[in-house]
Amino acid sequence: MSSLRMSSLRMASLRVPRTSRLLPAVRSASSRAGSAPLLRTRGYVDGRWLSAPTAFPVADPATGEEVARVADCGPAEAKLAVDAASKAFRSWKQTTAKGRSLLLRKWFDLVMLHRDELAELITSESGKPMRESLGEVVYGASFLDWFSEEARRVYGDIVPSPARDRKLLVLKQPVGVASIITPWNFPSAMIARKVGAALAAGCTVVVKPAEDTPLSALALAQLAEQAGIPAGVFNVVPCSRENTPSVGEVLCTDPLVAKISFTGSTATGKLLLKMAADTVKRTSMELGGHAPFIVFDSADVDKAVGGAMASKFRNTGQTCVCSNRFLVQSRIYDGFMEKLGRAMEAELRLGHGSDPESTLGPLINAGAAEKVANQVTDAVSRGAQVLRGGRRLGGSFMEPTLLADVTTDMLCMKEETFGPLLPVLRFNTEEEALAIANASNAGLAGYFYSQDMSQIWRVAEALELGIVGVNEGVVSTAEAPFGGVKQSGLGREGSKYGIQDYLEVKYMCLGGLRP
Ligand code: SIN
Repeated sequence: MSSLRMSSLRMASLRVPRTSRLLPAVRSASSRAGSAPLLRTRGYVDGRWLSAPTAFPVADPATGEEVARVADCGPAEAKLAVDAASKAFRSWKQTTAKGRSLLLRKWFDLVMLHRDELAELITSESGKPMRESLGEVVYGASFLDWFSEEARRVYGDIVPSPARDRKLLVLKQPVGVASIITPWNFPSAMIARKVGAALAAGCTVVVKPAEDTPLSALALAQLAEQAGIPAGVFNVVPCSRENTPSVGEVLCTDPLVAKISFTGSTATGKLLLKMAADTVKRTSMELGGHAPFIVFDSADVDKAVGGAMASKFRNTGQTCVCSNRFLVQSRIYDGFMEKLGRAMEAELRLGHGSDPESTLGPLINAGAAEKVANQVTDAVSRGAQVLRGGRRLGGSFMEPTLLADVTTDMLCMKEETFGPLLPVLRFNTEEEALAIANASNAGLAGYFYSQDMSQIWRVAEALELGIVGVNEGVVSTAEAPFGGVKQSGLGREGSKYGIQDYLEVKYMCLGGLRP
């Protein structure tokens, strides 16, 4: 099936950082993946495990060593998957909402049953610390749970008619085949969030997982099959970086595809939107963020420090909703910086994801670490001070870094970081903070800390964002709508709104009635 190689983690080649402890791996990610019963390395199309002419390597981001080789699907395999999903749609859309609900529930149960194995796969391919991987599996499963319930709550309307001989009805119907293109930072949960909604609505799907993290997607396929989800309803076409453009083209242009749901960079989202335009496909886009984190003078500083730690360092800073720009009001600035520095020292442990002590892992690849290091260099050259960390370590490891005296002209205040960099700017007035926070094309998430109720309402309303955390640093949950405004995307995932993105509204006029 797969060719697996044991990897030895060469932590010795990494320098031990001054401000965070780098821990030795207990057991390497690839050895864990190797023993995982859910390891699958072929594509999954029409209920069958599909080979491809070649295979591509999946690497442990901590070491660069190969974890598995996975079938490198191309446009031909992608087309097979679209055709299978289209064929399956004919019968899947006819199933009852209750039937779909029960299947999603079985899938949820199996994911929870296998959560440890799924978490090990996530860590092996994304580098995420095990406790975060486990959290991701449970978070992802919560969407299957949620949408198994929402499947039964898709209501239409009966509209009061202006004529006595007519009845006006609104039906909700599944849009059809959905192409699901998912990122590496949540290799399991982003699939569950999208596919849970799609299947609940009666759509069928073709998933293209990120090139770096196909193993979680294939493990989910294995469990979907075990749950009894019919052939062709859930298909997975893994592929390499080289094949991604041609596979993506099939998924975004084939006339049999009705809908595209994508999570990833804004630049890629724009390309997919252009491709979708020719056949006027429905789209959901979860794109980049640039989250502000504002601490007002009235805040509870200890709580703000806790929120900053949680929001910034979740997944080593690699989430679209991670705080990117910290704005702290003058009066509490010094106290906040001191407490934050202490929290970073006490709580952050950089190491291999498979070490139970690690709270931060490697970034996804060396380029990602270099991007963060460049932002640090740029900030320092413009007058920022490094209070903690600041160094790029071996491979894709980057020290968690705290910068003071940050100004708006620095790169870290203009572009998404996607890494463990925490730049702090001092501000004086609420108006100034709002102007800085809103001066961005991105509008996904943001956070602020205040204990002044009038200020809470004012600021929450004024922030140009899809998600606002008030006195909370982590707000994602299956029950709430996830999505952004401006160039952060289109549509919402999770919540009662998420399923609507997979439904068409049909107006039916029933005429000729005898009053
Ligand atoms: C993301 O980073 O794309 C998702 C984060 C979340 O669901 O909280």
